[in-house]
Amino acid sequence: MNYHKKTVRDVDVRGKKVLLRCDFNVPMAKDGSGVITDDKRIRASLPTIRYLLENGAAVIACSHMGKPNATYAAYVKKQTEKGKDPASLTEEGWKKSLEQLSLKPVAARLGQLLGQEVIMAADVVGPDAAAKAAALQPGQILLLENTRFEPGETKNDPELAKKLASMADLYVSDAFGAVHRAHASTVGVAAYLPAVSGFLIQKELEIIGGALADPKRPLVAILGGSKVSSKIGVINNLLSIADTIIIGGGMAYTFSAAQGGQVGDSLLEPDWKDYANDMVKKAAEKGVKLLLPVDTVCADAFAPDAKSQVVKAGRIPDGWQGLDIGPETVKLYCDAVKDAGTVIWNGPMGVFEFPAFAKGTEAVARALSETSAITIIGGGDSAAAVAQLGYADKMTHISTGGGASLEFMEGKELPGVACLLDQ
Ligand code: 3PG
Repeated sequence: MNYHKKTVRDVDVRGKKVLLRCDFNVPMAKDGSGVITDDKRIRASLPTIRYLLENGAAVIACSHMGKPNATYAAYVKKQTEKGKDPASLTEEGWKKSLEQLSLKPVAARLGQLLGQEVIMAADVVGPDAAAKAAALQPGQILLLENTRFEPGETKNDPELAKKLASMADLYVSDAFGAVHRAHASTVGVAAYLPAVSGFLIQKELEIIGGALADPKRPLVAILGGSKVSSKIGVINNLLSIADTIIIGGGMAYTFSAAQGGQVGDSLLEPDWKDYANDMVKKAAEKGVKLLLPVDTVCADAFAPDAKSQVVKAGRIPDGWQGLDIGPETVKLYCDAVKDAGTVIWNGPMGVFEFPAFAKGTEAVARALSETSAITIIGGGDSAAAVAQLGYADKMTHISTGGGASLEFMEGKELPGVACLLDQ
């Protein structure tokens, strides 16, 4: 995929109405209070927004938030469990269940961060958005409602894309977290407007793309998380790029079982054992060092206060489950990171949400914070782990995209990037 894309600096934005796609899909408090619990994604969009406003553009920002269909399904389930007839769940109920996915709290927070009013539209391409967009002046910013409130958004409906595009003269995408989705506001609009990238996408593409295309070697990839099945694409792609691949987290038990190890009650994907063996073989053929855990911290239950013991890898007793890498593995993995030129990390080493089983993940995070290597953290769980453990500002780059960074590392084309103008 060509990731050298035109940016906002390559076009004249003065006096233009700019449709700016952001990823404002931020976590919110579960109590429905509208409190944003982590505003990193809003902050990450500030450089592009400020640049556009300061250079005389009128900014029409848009984003998705959550998954409205899933939220409504959960609402219907809850009401049905309460004894309500699903047929009686009116449109009012649908609207109510979606209130929690409104971008109004984002407009408020963005306004605080920018130090200026963010005008909020009551709809996406309806009369309110159209009127407010038409009246918008250079230096002003408008935020449209959640793009997924329009059913055409996730279907990449050309009619919706056309309506979005009709409000603006230029399309700027800064929604790195959503570039793996071919939706109307991430891809469709680019068919109707000149389309360039913002600074956030540019940075993500340069750092992650650069590390994959021409890494400072040795390139060490640390892959964790619970499932082999969700990391197949990444392992496969990195086998042709990395010098060392380190496996941790729940998926290590499938590798261990594939080699005849006893994994007790640990997470296991039996259907992926052959695949795991193939990967070990492929790594040997390609001369890639593939490191697997040599010991494991296992527990007698999946609980924060479970009884635990350290055992050799492949020797987990029945009734016990591996929840973290053991101390010898920690040493092995941290040593591998010390002399790296580049480290890419995706997926925790254990159940880091339980302090008793966070040591492996914490040690790897610390090793990354101490190495002189370029350190790149994939979004999602690994980014959350690094932030929770207090090492966020010690990393070269923490991606704002979970699924997007994973697909990028899989070598897949990202539709929300491919649709932007090439340099
Ligand atoms: C994310 O949180 O990873 C992005 O905002 C994409 O969200 P989605 O998985 O709902 O498309």
